[in-house]
Amino acid sequence: MSSLDQDRHDPRRDEPGFGVRPQPVDEPETLFDGGESPSAPAVVAAEAAEFEPAETTTEMAEEQRERSWPEREADEPTPQRVEDEDSADEQPEDRDTGAEEPLGPTGRPFPQLPEPAPPAAGPKHAQIIAMCNQKGGVGKTTTTINLGAALAETGRRVLLVDFDPQGSLSVGLGVNPHTLETSVYNLLMDRGTDIDEVIDETVVEGMDILPSNIDLSAAELQLVSEVAREQILARVLDRVRDRYDVILIDCAPSLGLLTINALTASDGVIMPLECEFFALRGIALLTDTISKVQERLNPRLQVTGILGTMYDARTLHSREVLERVVQAFGDTVFHTVIRRTVKFPETTVAGEPITTYASSSPGAEAYRTLAREVLTRCHAK
Ligand SMILES: Nc1ncnc2c1ncn2[C@@H]1O[C@H](COP(=O)(O)OP(=O)(O)OP(=O)(O)O)[C@@H](O)[C@H]1O
Ligand SMILES: [Mg+2]
Repeated sequence: MSSLDQDRHDPRRDEPGFGVRPQPVDEPETLFDGGESPSAPAVVAAEAAEFEPAETTTEMAEEQRERSWPEREADEPTPQRVEDEDSADEQPEDRDTGAEEPLGPTGRPFPQLPEPAPPAAGPKHAQIIAMCNQKGGVGKTTTTINLGAALAETGRRVLLVDFDPQGSLSVGLGVNPHTLETSVYNLLMDRGTDIDEVIDETVVEGMDILPSNIDLSAAELQLVSEVAREQILARVLDRVRDRYDVILIDCAPSLGLLTINALTASDGVIMPLECEFFALRGIALLTDTISKVQERLNPRLQVTGILGTMYDARTLHSREVLERVVQAFGDTVFHTVIRRTVKFPETTVAGEPITTYASSSPGAEAYRTLAREVLTRCHAK
C-alpha cells in the first residue's frame, strides 16, 4: 500500500494538518554565482534544503496522534506538558547511547564548558555580535536579551543595540519606545548626537541598551544617499567600544541596509533558527549575504554560531529538524539549544530577562550555558 493509500485509510485523516508534508525548500540554486566560490556551509545548506522527514513510522504516527501540524501551542495544558516544562531546558539532554559522554540535544557529545573567567582587567575592546536571521519570529530578540543578561551575570559589561524599528528589544526590557526623545535613529542620522544621552540602563546590572522605535524605519531610506552608508553603525559603536566587553545587535527580520550595517559593525554573527520545517529556508541567502559582507566590507566578520530555538524534545519533528541543521552546518551549530517554553513570552510582558524573571528556570540555565559557549568560541578565535 502506498503512503497515499495509507493516508486515505487512516482514521486520523480528518485531523487538521494530517498528512501535511514539508514543501521542498526553494532556495536559489546557485548561491554564489558571479564567480564567488561556495563555502562549505552553503553547499551543505543546499543539501539540507532537500530535507524530507522520515516516512511515517510507528513513532511518527504516535507523534501525529498526539499532535497535529501546524504545531500545537507549546503551553497547551496537558499534564505531561507541565511536568516537562520544569525539566525542559536541562542541558545536556538525556539521550542514552551507552557512550561515556551524554549526547546533547544536537546529537553530539555535550562538551564541558568552563566556568567563565571574569573579564580581563585593563582597557576594553568589545566583541560585537549581530543576532541575524531575515526570517521573523525565530528568537533573535529573545536571544539578544537573555544572552546579554547571562553575559552580564558573568561580570561582563554588555550593551544591547535595538536595531529593529519594531523596537521589540526595547519593549522586552521595559523601555517605552513611544516616549524616547532620542534613539539609535538619531545616532545614525546626526553625528552630533551624544551617545550617552541615548544609552539607557536596564534592570540588569552591567547591561545597557541603545533603544529604538519606529523612527529607525526611516533611516533605511535616508541612509541610501549617505557616503559609506554601510559603515555608519560601526562608527557609532566605535565610540563606546572601550566601555563594554560585549555588544549585541538585535537585527530586524530583513537583509536590508540596516542589517548590512549591523554585519559591517560586527565581529561575529549568531543565527537563531526555529526548529521547524522551514528553518533552513532563507539560510542560504543569509550565509551568502554574510560572505559578501566579509568579502567587501568587513573581513573580520565570523559566524559565531547557529542556535536552535523553540526546540521541543518531545516531538520527532523538532529532533529531525535539529539533526538536519547539524548535518548541514556541523560544529557551527551551538551545542546549547533553547527549548520552547511559555516563560519567554511571559518575560516580554514582564519587561525583563528570564535570568531575573525566573532565575532558576531551565530557560535561564539554557541562556547561561549559551553564554559560556559564546565566550569559549569568541576566545578561541
Ligand atoms: N524558546 C522560546 N519558547 C517559546 N516562545 C519563544 C521562545 N523564544 C521566543 N519566543 C517567543 O516567540 C516570539 C518571537 O520571538 P522573538 O521576538 O525573540 O523573535 P524575533 O526573531 O526577534 O522576531 P522578529 O523577527 O519579529 O524580530 C515572541 O513572542 C517570543 O516571546
Ligand atoms: Mg526581534
